[in-house]
This record gives sequence, structure tokens and C-alpha cells, in this order.
Amino acid sequence: MNDYLKNINEAIDFIKKKGINNIDIGMILGSGLGKIAEKIQIKIKISYKEIPNFPVSTVKEHSGNLIYGTVGDKHVVFFQGRLHLYEGYSAKEVGFPVRILQKLGGKLLIVSNSAGGVNPGLKKGDIVVIKDHINMMGENPLVGKNIKEFGTRFPIMHDAYNKNLLKKVKVIAKNKNIKLKEGVYLGLKGPSLETDAEYRMVEILGGDMVGMSTVPEVITAVHGGLDVLGFSIITNKFDGMSKNEADFNDVLRVANKAGDVLSNLVLKLIKNLTY
Ligand code: HPA
Repeated sequence: MNDYLKNINEAIDFIKKKGINNIDIGMILGSGLGKIAEKIQIKIKISYKEIPNFPVSTVKEHSGNLIYGTVGDKHVVFFQGRLHLYEGYSAKEVGFPVRILQKLGGKLLIVSNSAGGVNPGLKKGDIVVIKDHINMMGENPLVGKNIKEFGTRFPIMHDAYNKNLLKKVKVIAKNKNIKLKEGVYLGLKGPSLETDAEYRMVEILGGDMVGMSTVPEVITAVHGGLDVLGFSIITNKFDGMSKNEADFNDVLRVANKAGDVLSNLVLKLIKNLTY
């Protein structure tokens, strides 16, 4: 058997033995949203380190836990702490949590990230629902032999971010008086931030925001037939950026503040879905 598939099956066996099964929705928590897990009824929490073959995060800002709980009547698994290409993981490894979600029966992946705003209409602290992405990371999680059990060789990426969910979340945001913008996320590998010319390039190419995550997970999810919904929190602006502003502590501070609002929006949405 393919090693990747074998590794995932071993992880799944372990997770199921811990009592996690039949998941409806999974969420990968980027900067700012880590605390959403505190707002739900946690049933089981497993450190990534305990899960066989789970690639373990090295960036200390992100704690690594798989959290299982309920939101309303939905069974949800949260991946608290994500894997990044810039840490040295392969795109397949970054997609590992998504495969776990797929194998547990998940139908929807929700992703969140922090991103730099390049569209002049975006401000620091804005919450943006992702309507599409541009993969400029130079990698793709589906490279190599296709595993049919997961999906087809050439998955169609049209409508990668589910349009109905986009509409739904916009209505909920409006009702809750939450300002929600909409934009295209352009993924670069990082970890260095963009030069001025690169930020301009992102805008010219059609990116409203730029970041170093999300794309591998979304491609993996679409391959696996999952619906996807994604959010960015704008933590810094290209035009107003000074060296201080780009400092990671500030990115985290802005992300945490907006993350609280986004958490409430996402929880409300999950309760309203019919998965
Ligand atoms: N560029 C890339 N990734 C980021 C940024 C940025 O400006 N801000 C937060 N993540």
C-alpha cells in the first residue's frame, strides 16, 4: 500500500479508538482562531504528537491539538495549529489533517488564516471571506501518484470555495452587524515577507490578500470532494508597512482581536448549516 495512505490509515485507527467518528465539519485554525475551541463543548482533545504519523508543528505560536466537540448538533473537529510549507513540510504533509477529516466522514472544511492586505480597500483588522485563491506556492499536494481512494487525478478547482456557503455567511455577518469583506487569496511559500515589488505583483495578478498557508489544504479538500469555506484576517497592509508593523507579535495581536469576532461568526454559521 502507498505509504501516505498507510500513514493516514494508522492515524485514523488511533483517532477512532479515542472515540472520534462520524465528523460533519472540520476546521483548521490559523492565527487568531485558535481560541474558538474554548467556546465549544470539547469532548476529546488529542495532542498532534500522540497521533501516529501526524506531522508535528514547530512554530511555537501554534499549539498542535486535534479537538473534537459539538457545536449545536454538529460534530466538529478542530485542528488547532496548522502546518506550513515554510516549516519544511511537504504540501502532502500540510494536507494530512484534511485527509483525516475526509476519512472521518467530514463534508466541509473551514480554514482561517492571517494575511497581508494588498487591495487598497482592505484595512488592518478586516475579516475577509475567501472567494478564490491563486496558487503561487510552487507546490501542490497532489503531485505524485494519485490515490484514487481520495479523489480524481485532475480535480476541478472551479468553485473551490463554495458559493452557497459564501452567500450564507454574508447573510449571517450582516444580521450580526459584522463587517465582512470578500477577496482572492494569493498563496506564497514564505517565510520571508514580500518585497515591495512582490506585493505589487500580487495585486497585479489579482490577489486581494497574500499569505503563506491555506492553499495546500484547500486543494487537498477539493480533491477529496469536500466543500470549502475560508477566511482571512488582514494583519498588515502593504502600503503602510514599516519593519515594526511586519513584526510577528503585531500580526498575532491583530489576528487575535479580529479572531474573536470571526469565531462568533463561524460558530453561528456552523449551527445554521445542514451537514
Ligand atoms: N505576507 C504574507 N503572509 C502574511 C502576511 C503578509 O504580508 N501577513 C500575514 N501573513
